[in-house]
Amino acid sequence: MPHQESAEEVVPLLERGIKVVDISADFRLKDASEYQKWYGFSHPAPQLLAEAAYGLTELYRPRIASARLVANPGCYPTGAILALAPVVKEALIEPDIIIDSKSGVSGAGRTLSQQSHYAEANEDISAYALEGHRHLPEIVQELKRLQPGQMASVTFVPHLIPMTRGILTTCYAQPAPGKLAGGKKGAEELQELYLDFYRDEPFVRVVASPPHTRHTSGSNLCLIHPTINPITGKLVIISCIDNLVKGAGGQAVQNMNLMLGFPETAGLQALAIYP
Ligand SMILES: NC(=O)c1ccc[n+]([C@@H]2O[C@H](COP(=O)([O-])OP(=O)(O)OC[C@H]3O[C@@H](n4cnc5c(N)ncnc54)[C@H](OP(=O)(O)O)[C@@H]3O)[C@@H](O)[C@H]2O)c1
Repeated sequence: MPHQESAEEVVPLLERGIKVVDISADFRLKDASEYQKWYGFSHPAPQLLAEAAYGLTELYRPRIASARLVANPGCYPTGAILALAPVVKEALIEPDIIIDSKSGVSGAGRTLSQQSHYAEANEDISAYALEGHRHLPEIVQELKRLQPGQMASVTFVPHLIPMTRGILTTCYAQPAPGKLAGGKKGAEELQELYLDFYRDEPFVRVVASPPHTRHTSGSNLCLIHPTINPITGKLVIISCIDNLVKGAGGQAVQNMNLMLGFPETAGLQALAIYP
């Protein structure tokens, strides 16, 4: 459901003892005042914000398993936070981060709008929300939770591209001094760190070459390729998800499985390919 309308439906469900995975943004942000600022409404149940588990399964598995309310992450934050979590948690980068994301048109939902008309979106690519996208506070909140001592400064620029589904995110950051070796050895260390961080994850794969959105289309996978630019020394971390699966309904099922004690991968091994 759309944000704001979802919160009003969720509260009575919780009162009836029903566990909820909310796919809207309504319980993702911990600070109620952010809803006024970014979504233009006053939150109807701010007392639930602290309780809601942020539903990025790979980071909050135990909390999600025991939660009665899970705030399923936004599509852009899922790809961006999974791409950045290992280096932010280990404080391997300077806190000035650039996140460039490209999303297929289904990211805007089915509601009609001029920007998602075929004739507007086809054979076109454009950046939007340069003044600040609604997913920015969510990304910043979660990066800060991974590294509470650091003030993350995040430049997030989303783009709309002419494909049905998928998000490709490229993150750029300066390595913190003295934390990683230079050159090829540094890139290998980085790859090892990511392989280790996501070792037991059923839906995250660290890959040796830049992933394509088609590699995740219809699946609950997130593919991540971390590397270091040999010319500038900057970290470049690329992730791919399907916005409608790991970025939305698939991750919601993954969280539901945990909350109900089912195998985490139940129902998620076949491809979901409509639209
Ligand atoms: N699209 C994505 O990639 C994505 C990813 C992550 C999260 N989300 C979030 O998921 C939510 C839904 O997004 P979407 O892309 O699926 O949007 P959508 O295609 O526009 O669908 C919204 C759905 O909500 C229903 N709805 C609207 N108001 C309702 C109400 N008052 N009571 C019951 N149902 C109502 C609509 O029903 P009708 O069709 O009958 O109007 C429609 O089925 C949003 O909060 C969005 O931010 C979307």
